[in-house]
Amino acid sequence: KVLILDFGSQYTQLIARRVRELNIYCEIHPYNKMPSGIQDYTAVILSGSPFSVRSDEALHPDLSAIRARIPLLAVCYGAQYLAHFSGGEVAPSNTREYGRANLSYIKEGELFFENIPNNSQVWMSHSDTIKTLPTNAILLASTHDVKNAAYKIEGEQTYAIQFHPEVYHTTDGKKLLENFLVKIAKLDQDWTPDSFVEETVDELQNKLGNDKVVLGLSGGVDSSVAAVLLHKAIGKNLYCIFVNNGLLRKNEFESVLEQYEGMGLNVKGVDASARFLNALAGIDDPEEKRKAIGRSFIEVFDDEAHLIEDVKWLAQGTIYPDVIESVSATGGPSATIKSHHNVGGLPDFMKLKIVEPLKALFKDEVRRVGISLGIDSSILGRHPFPGPGLAIRILGDITSEKVRILQEVDSVFINGLKEWDLYDKIWQAGAMLLPVNSVGVMGDERTYEKCVALRAVESTDGMTADWVNLPYEFLQKVSNDIINKVKGVNRVVYDISSKPPATIEWE
Ligand code: XMP
Repeated sequence: KVLILDFGSQYTQLIARRVRELNIYCEIHPYNKMPSGIQDYTAVILSGSPFSVRSDEALHPDLSAIRARIPLLAVCYGAQYLAHFSGGEVAPSNTREYGRANLSYIKEGELFFENIPNNSQVWMSHSDTIKTLPTNAILLASTHDVKNAAYKIEGEQTYAIQFHPEVYHTTDGKKLLENFLVKIAKLDQDWTPDSFVEETVDELQNKLGNDKVVLGLSGGVDSSVAAVLLHKAIGKNLYCIFVNNGLLRKNEFESVLEQYEGMGLNVKGVDASARFLNALAGIDDPEEKRKAIGRSFIEVFDDEAHLIEDVKWLAQGTIYPDVIESVSATGGPSATIKSHHNVGGLPDFMKLKIVEPLKALFKDEVRRVGISLGIDSSILGRHPFPGPGLAIRILGDITSEKVRILQEVDSVFINGLKEWDLYDKIWQAGAMLLPVNSVGVMGDERTYEKCVALRAVESTDGMTADWVNLPYEFLQKVSNDIINKVKGVNRVVYDISSKPPATIEWE
């Protein structure tokens, strides 16, 4: 396995994604929290960083257990760090070193640069530059503006590059990583979805033995894949609970429950709609709504878990981005914009041990594991849907009538996207019920009814997003259908805000 030491670069997770695309397992750890058992790692990669090695705030990793012992690849900040503190010199650069550049020199006969064409495009993003290489360094590559673009240390398997191999714009970046990991560090490329399933099932069987496990299914990709994986390992000892909070999409509870049963899962559907709607009555603040829903979910789930005699474990569909410890740029905690409550969701009183079979996986890897487990594409391709469901898409207070209206609108919109072959091209879509009545005219009648906003976004992780340029003909058709079919709505608008500065959900 590969260790990626993070110095706070925005690209660190991308390095991990690229390594895993090569079917090699890797982990990200903060530069100052070296994992134990360092000798178990076959290669180490140092990430970039927003800091300068010349500043007082420079981050100082302790590389004594790594250098000259384990093959090491230092990227950007890493490359500068090695240079600056091993006899070289780093200084502010005089020329612009952001964006595209081309390799103008590549040293011949180097494994590291094998099959990398002369002139290959690389992506630079740094304000300091390496003026003098460290002791015992051999120059491996240059660009027109950056002489010391890549070097290695003689007598060690230590390599350093100033550009970012992990970003898409470095055309041969993946090949370089492959050269380092496979040709130099001699790693096998055998970490595949199939091998992950096989190993995880073994581990789960050893860990869980004959214990009973409870898992909350949400209809989403992560909890579904976690359930199928656990089911494969422990069969009927996995007890799934699927709660209807009354805020799901139209008919979602019934159809998803049926699908789960069809997959052989031991699943109990619990219709707690009334309980959630009661808890939400009269609340219009978004964070208060989330809290009311969170509390109700915990109560319902706890009641249900108590019915399972002698249950020992709580399974969760936590994925890797939720557990990576980040190196913060300011050192302080980041502001809570919205209280997503998926991480560490174990209420004290449940006292169950936690099992998280997906916690090493990125989202796209969860899907690939899902495919390897034979899960239907209708589940794996489902858009993300927030835990509080339609409650945060109904602006203001919630009533069952508003839920009904929004379910109808959402269903026309989503089915329309599917019919027009747009659904799979979009990351997430949904409708918002606005607390706005406006005047309309239907036949000879004046109407004074609700306005809904449609939202469809492109994104990779929900952190940033852009609105989708849906065809006008589609918008025209869907707006017509909504107003004609859904009683209580007389106006449809389309949200053309990106995130940031807006967010995906309206609350
Ligand atoms: P925002 O609105 O913050 O949404 O741009 C980013 C992603 O997170 C989802 N989201 C939530 N998911 N509980 C959840 O489980 C929540 O309270 C919540 N709020 C937003 C949203 O659907 C989008 O995918």
